[in-house]
Amino acid sequence: MSAALPVWRQSRARVVRQDDRGAGHRWLELEVKSPFAPPSPGQFVQLRLPSVANPVLLPRPMSVASVVRSRGALRLGFLYAPVGIGTRALAGLGAGGEVEMLGPLGRGFPLEHPGTPVLLAGGRGVAPLLFAADVLARRTRSGRARRSAVMLFGARTRAQLVGLEDAHRRLAALGGRLHVCTDDGSLGPRGNVVQLLERVTPGLAGPIVLHACGPHAMLKAVALWSLACGVPAFLAMESMMACGTGVCRGCPLPRSASARVAYDPATAQSLHGNREWAMCCTEGPVFAAEDLDWERIE
Ligand SMILES: Cc1cc2nc3c(=O)[nH]c(=O)nc-3n(C[C@H](O)[C@H](O)[C@H](O)COP(=O)(O)OP(=O)(O)OC[C@H]3O[C@@H](n4cnc5c(N)ncnc54)[C@H](O)[C@@H]3O)c2cc1C
Ligand code: FES
Repeated sequence: MSAALPVWRQSRARVVRQDDRGAGHRWLELEVKSPFAPPSPGQFVQLRLPSVANPVLLPRPMSVASVVRSRGALRLGFLYAPVGIGTRALAGLGAGGEVEMLGPLGRGFPLEHPGTPVLLAGGRGVAPLLFAADVLARRTRSGRARRSAVMLFGARTRAQLVGLEDAHRRLAALGGRLHVCTDDGSLGPRGNVVQLLERVTPGLAGPIVLHACGPHAMLKAVALWSLACGVPAFLAMESMMACGTGVCRGCPLPRSASARVAYDPATAQSLHGNREWAMCCTEGPVFAAEDLDWERIE
């Protein structure tokens, strides 16, 4: 992918809103003053509580789920699960609370890639795809995109389809269709997102292009399906991250054989990985399916 690296900066951000979204998830809105650059879908920020009482040393990576511009400021939305010490501390912040925000970071989804966009979301992986739906809707309204999009959203149960209403609203604004599935059949057909993809694809105006985010097992299945069918696919990966900027070398993902052959040390950027490993934070988190070795991804 050829997207340029973002120009990131560290800024203080203020909590505007934080509420419960069900199944243990939270919706958080943070306001950050310009000149913080607006993130694009699939990019992320690093969040850290600045308080002296905060026990968390490292910032935590979070995908951006919405961006609204208002009077010299940006309001960024996040859909997240408080799973450990950092995200639980974040969940404890009320309106007016402050965090340090570093971003925007990484490479997002290439939404300009030709074809009908198919947004594939697994569980809380819906977060960056909600934002992608917003951007596609804006492009359709402005006449810059001629094709609508569809979203395929899967989770273990109906309750785990967190952000479902939001997804409905944003797909309606885009004139696109939302399809859902659950592992237990409590909403939509029983099965996973790849099975849903196989069902829905014949009815779509081709060619299609996949943009996906979810657990790595789901992304691996999507990647293998896309490679077998010759359909372009872009997958938003996660990795444990410390710096988020390519410095600590702590977030490697294995390159595919073809990506290792294509790797050219003469043109490689210093904050990217090496021939063997790609850095998730600077070269990703969104990768083309053919660029990673899916057999070595956990
Ligand atoms: C690019 C990127 C975007 C992300 N976007 C979102 C998002 O939109 N919403 C959201 O809820 N989460 C997102 N995450 C995951 C989120 O960053 C982790 O859940 C968070 O860092 C955990 O921090 P903690 O201090 O609460 O947990 P810790 O106390 O550090 O760990 C608690 C548990 O969470 C696991 N964990 C920690 N980091 C990760 C990680 N990166 N991926 C998976 N498991 C992890 C640990 O293994 C451990 O089991 C994203 C991660 C990345 C790399
Ligand atoms: S998180 Fe430090 S190099 Fe990626």
